[in-house]
Amino acid sequence: MKYSFAFLLSLGMASATATTNPTIKAPQPTDSLPKGHSKLIVTSGPGRISSVDFDGSAFNITNKIVTAGTNPSWAVFKKPNFLYTVNENANTIGLFTYDRTTNKFDNITTNAGSTGVVFLEFNKDQSHMVGASFTNGSIDAWDTSASDGSLKLLKTTKLDDKLGGNTLFQTAVQAHQAVLDPSGRFFIVPERGADTLSVIDSKADAFNVVQKVRVEPDGCGPRHGTFIKSCTGDKATHFVFVCELKNVIQLYSVAYTDKALELTHVQTESTFGKDMPSKNPTDTVADATKTFAAAGECVVASNQRDIYVSNRLTGNPADSIVHFTLERDEQTGTAKLVFGESVSSYGISPRMFSLALGKEDVLFSTNQNNGTGLLAYKRDADGKLAVIEDSKVDIAKFRDSVAEFGPEFVQQI
Ligand SMILES: *[C@@H]1O[C@H](CO)[C@@H](O)[C@H](O)[C@H]1NC(C)=O
Ligand SMILES: *[C@@H]1O[C@H](CO)[C@@H](O)[C@H](O)[C@H]1NC(C)=O
Ligand SMILES: *[C@@H]1O[C@H](CO)[C@@H](O)[C@H](O)[C@H]1NC(C)=O
Ligand SMILES: *[C@@H]1O[C@H](CO)[C@@H](O)[C@H](O)[C@H]1NC(C)=O
Repeated sequence: MKYSFAFLLSLGMASATATTNPTIKAPQPTDSLPKGHSKLIVTSGPGRISSVDFDGSAFNITNKIVTAGTNPSWAVFKKPNFLYTVNENANTIGLFTYDRTTNKFDNITTNAGSTGVVFLEFNKDQSHMVGASFTNGSIDAWDTSASDGSLKLLKTTKLDDKLGGNTLFQTAVQAHQAVLDPSGRFFIVPERGADTLSVIDSKADAFNVVQKVRVEPDGCGPRHGTFIKSCTGDKATHFVFVCELKNVIQLYSVAYTDKALELTHVQTESTFGKDMPSKNPTDTVADATKTFAAAGECVVASNQRDIYVSNRLTGNPADSIVHFTLERDEQTGTAKLVFGESVSSYGISPRMFSLALGKEDVLFSTNQNNGTGLLAYKRDADGKLAVIEDSKVDIAKFRDSVAEFGPEFVQQI
């Protein structure tokens, strides 16, 4: 079956859902897992949040909670046991508890905010959380300081930048992410529909837009990115991100002023690097018989050198994850992106992936549309990825029918 972007990104609407009082049980911090094993949260299209164990070679799905009609495509976990999830299909953020010992989920509250939120990020002390709304082109700032995990919506900031030139896909501002800078003060919001990076200042809980940068080329569609830290201190030197619609990775340098972040373009490269090019570059004309290549995830390892991006819907039998490195020149303070290698995603549409906590010796990945739904790659000292064969879990384990999305999100907790 072919997946059009309209289908991929079809986001429903729902009325505000009533919230109930939290009834959170006592935290259960003890972990029953043997050493070297890890625990992950995986979400998938049919309203599913799954708990998964990984023993270094294979996954075991230990439990799930399902809310029909929702799409929990992003989640964040806060110790000891709070799990917040978006619902792309409506205007709610779910609060669940997850007990690491028993793998039991509890449904705590459903909280109304912007419609079609696709990403959540905490500030440094996790007293606040920011959500990015694809549908409304807005940013929700939540107070998450309560000890019972409950949420309070502080502010919604609507972004109103001029849309990019791809009239097929850039039909609204489409805020896709809100990435916290390493100093803990600013968030960068890539706007897929408006070819813009907006800088939000969290100072004094104001969450105001303090800077905007128009991204080129026109129609590129900024999606996901990550800050790159300086070797010392807690400031960023660069911001690297992918443009979904033009399939490029972009490097910007970052400078701090009293009021904002200054972003300056450094480099633009194909997300395909030198091999495994797409068969179907993004078009601007609707064609229900085709899918269009769409860059997806972009993360950097804590060595601030290894950068990984995903290419979705490439028209190839499987999509790809591509490794770039950031080469710094300490003399001049400059840096550049260098293509490393591509590996198969072993399925179609690797929407999101994440590194194992701690040593980051494993990269956990997903395929949303077909093939292997969940898998792990060994990551070596050079940052190269090698799939762990026994880790491959068929997408069918995460959905009820082929019309539904498989895994969209995976994160060790
Ligand atoms: C999905 O995978 C199945 C086999 O696992 C294959 O028959 C089908 O053609 C694939 N669909 C797409 C869109 O690649
Ligand atoms: C997988 O998880 C289930 C549920 O926690 C458990 O009963 C089972 O023993 C696990 N299987 C393996 C192979 O670890
Ligand atoms: C969680 O609670 C909300 C109401 O707050 C409800 O709409 C939803 O169906 C519940 N989900 C589950 C899995 O019970
Ligand atoms: C957000 O999007 C929903 C669905 O399109 C719409 O009903 C609602 O009015 C929008 N809210 C704002 C503040 O634009």
